Amino acid sequence: MAEAISGGLAHALGLPMPEIVLMDLDAELARTEGDPEIQDLIKASAGLNLGMDYLPGAINFDPVAEQPDAELASRIVWFDAFTSNVDRTARNPNLLVWHGRLQLIDHGASLYFHHGWDGDTAQAGKPFALIRDHVLLRWADRIAEVDAGWPGACRRRSSPTSSPRCPTTGCRDRTRSATRPASAPPTWTTCASGWRSARASCRR
Ligand SMILES: Nc1ncnc2c1ncn2[C@@H]1O[C@H](COP(=O)(O)OP(=O)(O)OP(=O)(O)O)[C@@H](O)[C@H]1O
Ligand SMILES: [Mg+2]
Repeated sequence: MAEAISGGLAHALGLPMPEIVLMDLDAELARTEGDPEIQDLIKASAGLNLGMDYLPGAINFDPVAEQPDAELASRIVWFDAFTSNVDRTARNPNLLVWHGRLQLIDHGASLYFHHGWDGDTAQAGKPFALIRDHVLLRWADRIAEVDAGWPGACRRRSSPTSSPRCPTTGCRDRTRSATRPASAPPTWTTCASGWRSARASCRR
């Protein structure tokens, strides 16, 4: 779920990442796989799966060798603070470089609070302290600009037809639409808390 939700959010925010699709996996595929461990994985995954476009020739991001763009680094750090992603560290960046451009992968460790969540939203505004370990933090010197610009951009991207929709889709009446019944609870508070959280974390 974290992969689908955070991947969808990253896509809605225009961050570079391989396309995510829902795919139906045929267990027969296991017959052409030589590695018994992978065979078992394929068999166990028969049916509906989340799939990601394979980027041929992509290499893993190396923070020693690469000099990422400050604007993009700031956007990625902001996004990872927003989605509380603990898995973009120097040890395991979960970033690829493809045709000279960063690509985000692996959001499975984001939104980690949902594993033991009791439904309480009081924690939503808390700073995300683990952002201090983010592999791109040292290049991310435009967090304030990103923070000021993105809520607007996010609203612009929200539309009844865009799918998946970004977190501000529910920003009160601005985007209320046929897909969002008038009775649906507004999510503005959650969005605002998320932004505050990202801001607060990144200032530290
Ligand atoms: N879309 C892709 N295109 C090309 N290579 C990919 C893609 N996704 C992942 N990879 C390669 O597979 C590696 C592992 O991918 P991923 O991080 O999704 O798996 P993981 O099980 O979380 O592994 P890890 O624990 O190392 O993070 C990446 O570091 C990269 O080399
Ligand atoms: Mg990974």
